[in-house]
Amino acid sequence: MKSFISVLNLSKQDVLSYIVKANNMKHGPLCKFPNKTLITMFYEPSTRTSCSFQAAAIKLGCNIINLTDKVSSVEKGETLEDTIKTLNSYGDVIVLRHPLKGSSERASHVSKVPIINAGDGNGEHPTQALLDIFTIYNEIASFEIDLDSEKRNKIVVTFLGDLKNSRTIHSLIHLLMLFPKMKFIYISPPSLEIPQEIVDKVNSFPNCEQMVMDLDTAISMTDILYVTRIQKERFANERDYYSVVLNHNHQQYCVDKEIMLHAKEKMIIMHPLPRLHEISTELDNDPRAKYFKQVENGVYMRMAILDTLFNLS
Ligand code: NCD
Repeated sequence: MKSFISVLNLSKQDVLSYIVKANNMKHGPLCKFPNKTLITMFYEPSTRTSCSFQAAAIKLGCNIINLTDKVSSVEKGETLEDTIKTLNSYGDVIVLRHPLKGSSERASHVSKVPIINAGDGNGEHPTQALLDIFTIYNEIASFEIDLDSEKRNKIVVTFLGDLKNSRTIHSLIHLLMLFPKMKFIYISPPSLEIPQEIVDKVNSFPNCEQMVMDLDTAISMTDILYVTRIQKERFANERDYYSVVLNHNHQQYCVDKEIMLHAKEKMIIMHPLPRLHEISTELDNDPRAKYFKQVENGVYMRMAILDTLFNLS
């Protein structure tokens, strides 16, 4: 029984083998696990994570049970622990999204079946980080750049948006740090900066540089531009949210055709989605825009994750 809670226990070798496996999933194998049941338990909204886990499970031949907070007994006051113990009788793996940081870890302490963390508040989103690094690996390979090579030039990854609350960025940074010659640029509205604990962690890796910059300066040196929305649901109240959103110049944190004129030809734009206004739809046909490629890759990577897990159990 092996839960998938955090990227922190993954080695570079683990990441590379997930990438190989996900690439193989593009050609099958199909319907390997007709006796397995996947339970999705989503206590926060989700389109991609929830549906791609279901799509992955369907391709692997599994059965599916879906539960959301709107229809579960949490509405009647049931604890997370009791719900998890109950679901243990119905399936072989639980994919959990929950608004509280640390909730997947909590669930794993009482669960007899593996828990997959599908986002715990502003904590982590490890399966998204794997599909993101899978996308990065494949896309830069198409520029003949090997993510894992010591000989290549430095890769500049610019993170733009709500770096404080973006769990996808928190997890992705940890995976990128495993690879050689990385440079991270952080661009965020005031009060939504990258958490200090992540800055300290990056500092302890000699192969990584990091700095704060503005988008106008960073754009021309960026190889991977990773954009994220301001996570409204993480603010204590609407007033706090609007005070951040209204007190800065939005344009500085948005990507459009104009700013992309200054970007390299061989670079990529990523976003975990949903996007609001931070990437203009006029960029969707730009060959550098890879956010819908991430969506597609999510199915292959989640197949690889489920396959690994079921082969272990
Ligand atoms: C992200 C999430 O839920 O953290 N979405 C996703 O899983 N693809 C990003 C977001 O909600 O902004």
